[in-house]
Amino acid sequence: MEQYPDYQTYEKLYKRFYSRPAGSLIELVGSVAGKRVLDLCGGSGRLSLEAARLGAEEVVLVDREERMMGLPAKLNPRIRVEVDTVDSYIKSSVKDKKQFDFIFCQQAVNYWLCEEIASFLAAFLRGGGVFVFNTFNKRPPEKPLVKEYQLDGDNFVEVSWLVGDIVHHVQVREGMPCHLTSFHWLSPERLARMLNPYFLLDVKVEGGASLYRCLKK
Ligand SMILES: C[S@@+](CC[C@H](N)C(=O)[O-])C[C@H]1O[C@@H](n2cnc3c(N)ncnc32)[C@H](O)[C@@H]1O
Repeated sequence: MEQYPDYQTYEKLYKRFYSRPAGSLIELVGSVAGKRVLDLCGGSGRLSLEAARLGAEEVVLVDREERMMGLPAKLNPRIRVEVDTVDSYIKSSVKDKKQFDFIFCQQAVNYWLCEEIASFLAAFLRGGGVFVFNTFNKRPPEKPLVKEYQLDGDNFVEVSWLVGDIVHHVQVREGMPCHLTSFHWLSPERLARMLNPYFLLDVKVEGGASLYRCLKK
């Protein structure tokens, strides 16, 4: 996968993806006050910062790209940042028996969630723990799909297409270099098969996006 730009460039280039506030994922678990929170692929730290603001006792932000991690998150005493891939962090931390009350992954689960990792995830959660993520629920087409729109007076173009089970996505904003990224298509059926053995699923469908609340069994 191609590297992400620094977090300030990312926020401008992917402006449309900021329409869902981090708080809307946090709401699904009720209160995070006094709880231990893991923010996987946390990027700039918008969800980690919100969890810290809401009184989480400790927040661990994991992202494989240090330049995607925002300074406010790095400087927040309640947030510990770990530059690592989800796969390596989960496999190494499970041995240390680290546990969290809540695990979040906003707009990034398609990079890493698979049957093997799903089997480790529940071990990371305390009893009654919850894993929350959002993802898209419509299979992208093989023929490249072009979306053009304007935001803040700037022109944007997105091109997405599927090759096998890999989605390729090009993000363009006028005046900026483009960004190309690739991730897995995870169908609702595959997600249910991989998560059902470990979690009770509650899925909220909002058009082309789904919000998953996975309660540890
Ligand atoms: C679309 S951004 C989302 C960032 C943040 N969650 C948000 O909603 O603003 C995806 C993030 O996932 C990170 N990422 C992608 N694959 C990863 C992996 N395997 N392990 C850790 N981080 C990963 C990228 O570096 C990037 O910061």
